Amino acid sequence: MARCKWCSNKGIFLSLSQNGLCESCQTEIETEINKTQRMIRYSIRLIESTDKKEIKLSRCKDIIENARKLLKYERKCIPTIEPTPSKLIKEYITTHDSIIIKTMPEKVNEALLKAETVLKPFTNIYRVNEAIANLNVAKSVLSNHLNPKIIALINQKGGVGKTTSTINLGAGLAQAGKRFLLIDFDSQANLTDGLGIDERELQASIYNLMKGEVTCEKVLIHRSDKLSLIPSNVYLAQAEKEFSTDPRNIYLLRNAIKDLKGYEYILIDCPPSLGILTLNALAAAQEVIIPLQPEYYALKGIRKLFDIIEFVKVKRNKRLTIMGIIGTRYDKRKILHREVYDKVCESLGDNIFYTVIRENISLAEASSYGKTIFEYRPKSHGAEDYMNLSKEVMEKSEKIVI
Ligand SMILES: Nc1ncnc2c1ncn2[C@@H]1O[C@H](COP(=O)(O)OP(=O)(O)OP(=O)(O)O)[C@@H](O)[C@H]1O
Ligand SMILES: [Mg+2]
Repeated sequence: MARCKWCSNKGIFLSLSQNGLCESCQTEIETEINKTQRMIRYSIRLIESTDKKEIKLSRCKDIIENARKLLKYERKCIPTIEPTPSKLIKEYITTHDSIIIKTMPEKVNEALLKAETVLKPFTNIYRVNEAIANLNVAKSVLSNHLNPKIIALINQKGGVGKTTSTINLGAGLAQAGKRFLLIDFDSQANLTDGLGIDERELQASIYNLMKGEVTCEKVLIHRSDKLSLIPSNVYLAQAEKEFSTDPRNIYLLRNAIKDLKGYEYILIDCPPSLGILTLNALAAAQEVIIPLQPEYYALKGIRKLFDIIEFVKVKRNKRLTIMGIIGTRYDKRKILHREVYDKVCESLGDNIFYTVIRENISLAEASSYGKTIFEYRPKSHGAEDYMNLSKEVMEKSEKIVI
């Protein structure tokens, strides 16, 4: 005898749908499922298309709530949505929690800053000074626990703008209030030099840090409250030979900087080669940015670079991803630049930043004065382009974390 799976009505002449439901249950349930499905899909689309954490959080809650409504049908094996409601609930609870965890330090920091502002006018009142001192301790402990996002700027081709991009992307992030650390990972020491530091006067460099001869504190240079640097010098040239002998040396950089806290970003300026130093940078980083000058052989080199990144990702560093390729030194008057850039976009479209760094003499001049573009010519095209790039990097970083 036929029996409806939902209302338990039974009868010899009762006709059941494919899902084992009587006609009235089928219509009613189908309507509810369709409506709920639409709401869930809409929320998923919104989550994927926005960067606003508040919207993501409220949409996660909507999905969980709506998916819960469908659980009763899943239990009776009535198909509702793919992935199944229980999988959706699990997935979006995890997403929700990871956003909360990510925003927590920011929220606590905001609260501490507010408390400090409120307390400041009352510093002559008994124990308020002590309270402010405690707040400051809490703030510094908190900032030490904010884990940095490590980004390596890599291209084995020389002169494509790796160093210029590391300095000015970092400076753009600093303009947005981010604390960041630059690592000069090239024995040419162009980054060290480009920030106005004389490599000949250095007591220690990244080379000594990797060898475990000095601590991070000893080698760090604080150029401003937002910008710090681990410099390089010519001794790093020895590293290529010295460290290549043992495959375990691929983790030297990662281990050397693993305890560094209090920075939101660490940017690594890599040398123009695919040797042990670049492998070290890939093993330490979470993200890779590839500066690419739209010249004739650009694409050929990129394929090889992608293979190496994939190799490191599979064998040594699972968290590694390509954040994007950034077109550099772009001159739209040059037909070759336009053609190559179009080709790059065609074949690597998803991996390209919207921002393009135009050829701009101020960028070259700024490094020769040991300044960032924002210090040297804040109104130049170079400053505008690197500001846009840093905004994109911040947006992408948040997306990746979530
Ligand atoms: N957008 C730009 N406009 C004009 N000049 C630029 C631009 N970007 C970089 N340059 C200049 O091009 C030269 C090479 O740039 P940079 O040193 O940043 O490249 P690189 O990839 O780090 O080189 P290397 O591989 O040798 O380390 C420098 O003189 C720099 O000032
Ligand atoms: Mg360089």
